[in-house]
Amino acid sequence: MAVLEINSLTKTYGKGDTSVTALDHVSFSMNKGEFVAIIGASGSGKSTLMNLIGGIDHSTSGSVKIDGNEIYNLIPTLTTAENIMLPRLLDHRKPDPDKLSSILETIGLSERATHLPSELSGGQQQRVSVGRALINDPAFILADEPTGNLDSKASREIIDLLRLANKRSNQTLLVITHDEKIALQADRIITLGDGQILSDEVMKA
Ligand SMILES: Nc1ncnc2c1ncn2[C@@H]1O[C@H](COP(=O)(O)OP(=O)(O)OP(=O)(O)O)[C@@H](O)[C@H]1O
Ligand SMILES: [Mg+2]
Repeated sequence: MAVLEINSLTKTYGKGDTSVTALDHVSFSMNKGEFVAIIGASGSGKSTLMNLIGGIDHSTSGSVKIDGNEIYNLIPTLTTAENIMLPRLLDHRKPDPDKLSSILETIGLSERATHLPSELSGGQQQRVSVGRALINDPAFILADEPTGNLDSKASREIIDLLRLANKRSNQTLLVITHDEKIALQADRIITLGDGQILSDEVMKA
C-alpha cells in the first residue's frame, strides 16, 4: 500500500532570469513500513522536497499524496510530557497516560517528563520530538537531517529510535541525511542531483 505518492513534482523559486528550479519533475512512491533515505549534494533539492511533502510549501506543479505526520520543533514553555501529548491535545483527544509512559520509556526520558526543553540536552530534545511523532501512531514520519547538529552517540540514539518505530510499528520513515552510515540503514536510498532523481536503489537486507 502506498502511503506517499509523488507525481512529477516541480518547484521553481522566483521568476524570470533569476528563477531556480529546485525540483524538476520528481516522481516516486513509498509503501507502508518502508524506510527511505534521501541523499544528494547541497542544493540538490532535498529540503525543498521535504517541505512540499510536509505541506510547508506549495509546488509549482505536480502532486503529493500523503497520509502523515511530521517531526516539528518543541514548544519551549511545555514540558517533555506536554510536548509529546501536544498532537492529541490539539486534536481535542484524551491523553492516554499508559501510552505516554510507554513512549517516555522508549525514548529513555521517564525521569525527564516534567523538564522544559531548555533543561534537556540537544539529543534529549530530539528524542522528545520523536516521542511526539509516535504518540498518534502516524503512518508516516518525515525528518530533515534529524541528527544534523548532534554528536555521533546522540545521532545513533535518534536513528535507533526511528528504526525501532519503523520495525516495531511498521511506521514509514523518510529521512534526509548527509550521513552515509544512516543512509545505509535504509531499505532504499534515493539520490537527488540538480532537482532530479539520479538513482533510486533498494538496499539488501
Ligand atoms: N526560498 C528560496 N528561494 C530561492 N531559491 C531557493 C529557496 N530555497 C531553496 N532555494 C534553492 O533551491 C535549490 C535547492 O535547495 P534545497 O534547500 O532544497 O537544497 P538541499 O538539498 O536541502 O541542500 P542542503 O543539503 O544544503 O540542505 C538550491 O539551489 C537553493 O539555492
Ligand atoms: Mg536541506
